[in-house]
Amino acid sequence: MTTLSEDTIAGLVRDDLAHLIHPQYYAPEHQDPVIFDYGDGVWLVDVRGKRYIDGLSSLWNVAVGHGRSELADAAADQIRKIAFTNNYTGFSNVPAIELAAKVADLAYDNLSGVFFTNSGSESNEGALKTARFYWNLQGRPSKVKLIARERAYHGGTLATAAMTGLPPFWKYFGPLPAEIVHTAQPENLECDCELNSDGECAHWLEAAIEREGADTVAAFIAEPVKGAGGVWTPSAEYFGRIREICDRYEVLFISDEVITGFGRTGRWFAHEHWDVQPDILSVAKAITSGYVPMGAFIVSDEIMEALQTVPPDARFMHAYTNSAHPTASAVALRNLQIFEDENLLANAETMGAKLGDGLRSALGGHTHVTNLRSLGLIAGFSLVQDAETGAAYDAADGVGGQVARHMREKGQVITRFVGDHIVLAPPLIVSGDEIDHIVGAVEAAIRAVTGE
Ligand SMILES: Cc1ncc(COP(=O)(O)O)c(C=O)c1O
Repeated sequence: MTTLSEDTIAGLVRDDLAHLIHPQYYAPEHQDPVIFDYGDGVWLVDVRGKRYIDGLSSLWNVAVGHGRSELADAAADQIRKIAFTNNYTGFSNVPAIELAAKVADLAYDNLSGVFFTNSGSESNEGALKTARFYWNLQGRPSKVKLIARERAYHGGTLATAAMTGLPPFWKYFGPLPAEIVHTAQPENLECDCELNSDGECAHWLEAAIEREGADTVAAFIAEPVKGAGGVWTPSAEYFGRIREICDRYEVLFISDEVITGFGRTGRWFAHEHWDVQPDILSVAKAITSGYVPMGAFIVSDEIMEALQTVPPDARFMHAYTNSAHPTASAVALRNLQIFEDENLLANAETMGAKLGDGLRSALGGHTHVTNLRSLGLIAGFSLVQDAETGAAYDAADGVGGQVARHMREKGQVITRFVGDHIVLAPPLIVSGDEIDHIVGAVEAAIRAVTGE
């Protein structure tokens, strides 16, 4: 709506560099940032008036697309009424009560208690604290450890960075909490499991519990589809086995559905695909489609009952000023209404299949593309030196970054890359023509960068 002059843009970039510290900041790569002006549906427009398809729903969160006046109205109406009230014990508010009931209704049948946070990181950190709290209430205080997976992403706080299974997130921030440990491929593992797309199987968890001692392990955390680590999908049997292992060793299962929650895989929550139920569910992002910050963790009937029947010295001293924020709750309620009115889960399933098929037909058999993976409207693939041998590119070549840059500059599609893995997750409102545009931009970028 506003095309800015080059002088104004240069001034903005100067001030940005001088004052704004960005997530994953690396100043040499921030000399010419894309500065967004407005959005409309799946489209983003920068301050020069250039349009791009938002191929990752911004950060996997803008599920209903940009520029929804219904959500602006919901926020404005609530702010006019009352923007904020105190939700500590003894006080509550109408939109938060309605949202908690709605989320409990949509989530897995065994879950009933909702604690609202402001982000995915807070959801996961709260989930871990709650798991420890629960085991203390059961008289088992030694159960404190959390097991997480390689290539997982769980957030930016100290504990959730430790849960994250991507070493660059640890470097220079240590020491990290020692009770947060990771699965690793067990030595001499012989099994007939169908492997996940990144090569792991449920025995990795079993080996980690045995290694640590089940008496010391409070919980296991996993994303149904590892997102920010490169989009890695599980085998059909994986989470059924995980549930069975967690039950056998009395380890709580935390499902981090900060990306997959609220429709991304074509279901409200991803474990509906495999008929599995976690003990704690972490969400954020699409609960408000990113229009205002909000997250939540949702606990099982059993944990909820334990929280409601604690002895007097065991008050649940976990708190955020903005927990159950009335304005965020009102936006979330209206956002979830849009999901239902516009049948977005069905669209995610149909358009997800079109995206997966499109990528497979454009790139299947390409010399430099391997391991195309998707579930609903989340997809990823890997760029390699040679798809037949699986030989990787030299990291210094930065092929993933080159492809993403070409997609943005020439193909008008913005998405992210993780090393040589390209990830895609467009808004759930995406149309067939827009999927065709995305697939065309991906193919053109790969052919231009690899020369094949
Ligand atoms: C699976 C997952 N968990 C947790 C988080 C952290 O969420 P936030 O950035 O809102 O703290 C993210 C963020 O991308 C995520 O993808």
